Amino acid sequence: MILVTGGAGFIGSNFVLDWLAQSDEPVVNLDALTYAGNRANLAALDGDARHTFVHGDICDRALVDSLLATHRPRAIVHFAAESHVDRSIHGPGAFMKTNVDGTFTLLEAARAHWATLPDGEKAAFRFHHVSTDEVYGSLGPTDPPFAETNPYEPNSPYSASKAASDHLVRAWHHTYGLPVTTSNCSNNYGPYHFPEKLIPLLIVNSLAGKPLPVYGDGQQIRDWLYVTDHCAGIRAVLAGGKLGETYNIGGWNEKANIDIVKTVCALLDELRPDPAGPYSRLITYVTDRPGHDRRYAIDARKIERELGWRPAETFDTGIRKTVQWYLEHADWVANVQSGAYKDWVNTNYADRVG
Ligand code: NAD
Ligand code: DAU
Repeated sequence: MILVTGGAGFIGSNFVLDWLAQSDEPVVNLDALTYAGNRANLAALDGDARHTFVHGDICDRALVDSLLATHRPRAIVHFAAESHVDRSIHGPGAFMKTNVDGTFTLLEAARAHWATLPDGEKAAFRFHHVSTDEVYGSLGPTDPPFAETNPYEPNSPYSASKAASDHLVRAWHHTYGLPVTTSNCSNNYGPYHFPEKLIPLLIVNSLAGKPLPVYGDGQQIRDWLYVTDHCAGIRAVLAGGKLGETYNIGGWNEKANIDIVKTVCALLDELRPDPAGPYSRLITYVTDRPGHDRRYAIDARKIERELGWRPAETFDTGIRKTVQWYLEHADWVANVQSGAYKDWVNTNYADRVG
């Protein structure tokens, strides 16, 4: 079996659902159920003996030790993190705690457990760390996309905390020989994406007739990847990645934010027309994110060449599926827009001048 951390969040829940759709290898899923974690994402697995959900914190060393001793996973796939850049600007402490201390705790628990394994299990054991392209910093308009060899230049508290965790993972391999792999992925989108992030926020705000906030000039570029393609990339690295190596995962899909906004508006105009007029009427330019990275782009040739991974979705197919999923899951959206969500919207957008 495998131990997944953060498997009630956006990517983690997609990964667990995908994993169990493709294999019968059981999953123990450790998640603290922060605002971003949601048991409803895993509802399809209710009563499925292959999935064991554990409500707990990756910083709890005793809990992690006992899960490793009890379940003896052959691998740890580590998603758990604070993941939202804007939240890291308002409150970086939680990012240091989970992303840095939490990864340190997991690495130490994994190292102690790994040392006790018999040779065969020891050789097969893997610690896969899920990270981000944001650790590489920001690209100029004509720079080549991020390769695995790019220097780390994180610019936000979030990306700095992820960079720190990547360095810990690297060091635990180099110093202790822990069998690790790391993947650095670009922006994901798809089902179960929490509506604090750009694409789901655009969809839920459009349907509610609320402003669509575009930071700064809207010309920042992100490289978008449908979430199940990211999950497939992680499975490929887990299965065949070289120990101690990092793999960049991305969709060769650079888009300016304003073009994402217009695409989502056009899809909604087609799928759920609003009698009040085109959704683009709601576009509102607001004060920029402090330290906003201008451009991310991933060079995914290493994982393509070495592991044969390629994205299955184009942006056109993925964004259509995504918008359709949100239209069909109004209950899920209503459920995550709790009081705490409203507090966040006030915190993040109240001071941004429209
Ligand atoms: P998310 O915020 O949707 O989910 C994070 C999950 O981790 C939640 O279920 C939360 O409850 C859990 N969690 C948080 N703190 C925890 C703790 N201390 N102990 C246990 N569980 C805890 O995040 P996501 O977007 O699914 O991202 C998952 C991982 O992928 C993160 O490591 C993130 O850095 C990385 N990543 C995300 C993207 C993206 O576009 N979303 C891209 C590249 C990499
Ligand atoms: O690149 C990978 C990263 O992508 C992940 O590591 C992060 O966990 C994930 O949150 C994401 O970070 P971004 O900051 O790129 O994603 P976000 O959806 O917050 O913003 C995408 C772009 O849209 C970014 O340039 C900021 C802009 N934006 C965002 C919001 C929430 C807006 O213009 N308006 C908004 O209201």
